[in-house]
Amino acid sequence: MNVNGKHYETISITGGKKPVIQVIDQRVLPFRFEFKKLYTVEDAFSAIADMVVRGAPLIGATAAAGMYLSLCGYTGRSPITDYINRMARYLVSARPTAVNLPYAVDFVLEEISKGHTLAEKINLAKDAARHIIDLERENCLRIGEYGLPVIERIAGEKNGKPVNILTHCNAGWLACIDYGTATAPIYLAHDKGINVHVWVDETRPRNQGARLTAWELQQHGVPCTIIADNTGGHLMQHDMVDIVIVGCDRATTNGDVANKIGTYLKALAAKDNDVPFYVALPSSSFDWKIADGLTEISIEERDPEEIKYIQGVYNDKWISMLITDIESNAANYAFDVTPARLITGLITEKGICQAERYSIRNLFPGKISL
Ligand code: MRU
Repeated sequence: MNVNGKHYETISITGGKKPVIQVIDQRVLPFRFEFKKLYTVEDAFSAIADMVVRGAPLIGATAAAGMYLSLCGYTGRSPITDYINRMARYLVSARPTAVNLPYAVDFVLEEISKGHTLAEKINLAKDAARHIIDLERENCLRIGEYGLPVIERIAGEKNGKPVNILTHCNAGWLACIDYGTATAPIYLAHDKGINVHVWVDETRPRNQGARLTAWELQQHGVPCTIIADNTGGHLMQHDMVDIVIVGCDRATTNGDVANKIGTYLKALAAKDNDVPFYVALPSSSFDWKIADGLTEISIEERDPEEIKYIQGVYNDKWISMLITDIESNAANYAFDVTPARLITGLITEKGICQAERYSIRNLFPGKISL
């Protein structure tokens, strides 16, 4: 997608003697547009854990690239297979909820097992990481193409008035490689001349909506308005939301979906107000091994300081400000699970299906046994 009119993607891999992974530093957006270079597997781990990069597809891609860096840093002090497996576990432990992370690492593991020498394994790891990047870019575009008719249908009923779309967190191109998941149909609709407007949940505590989604939509010229997290229900009661589209960090075979904390409340409000609630996700966000989201998805708990302190810019300076009593307890659950019964449809790179086992299986035969 474009930043100041120039096309960017969120991650790139440079091979050669000194391999480098370059990512956009999402911690400083929208105030500064900066890149960060990752040279070691530890750099890749920290980038994921500290949320330099975030969003399910992008942390998967970064972990895959991290596997490549780990092989480049192999010193021979322990047997190579032990080392590779240790590095894989290390990277997967960076964040627990998005299944894209273990999916991408497992894919790289499988590919490098085909090499015999270290040089072969390094090349296979690099190709595998690049493949994940290419695949996620392509999948997001397909999600956009399948989601577009849904927006077009609504537009057809609105006589030229804007289609109001509510989204939560950032499931945009910053969370992926390009296009985004939830945003892909929005970008395609906007590019086709459909009048769309996006309500952007601010998404406390890290404000991915206010800081990232609004910025990237604005860069593309898509009209949008930031709202406080608790506003969506009110807007839906007053016919000011036509559709909700969110992303996903882990979906189960029954169609339950883990996404950024607060997604569940939006789904409840959407159900109560007959507003269609769609989840956009690539197949890399399905956990094919689990069925029940509430009991089987591990929900990340982050540092409570993220709740108690807010970060931003004041007088051109980056500041972190305490917004509670210093003694207050805080709990920082980063994701919640939206049960399948609240979801109108899953928009995937293979098409749209119901959030239900048989329907998912029709799109992805071979992934789910009945
Ligand atoms: O904690 P984050 O910012 O990594 O959480 C991201 C989200 O919850 C996104 O909505 C989700 O990953 C979908 S990204 C396409």
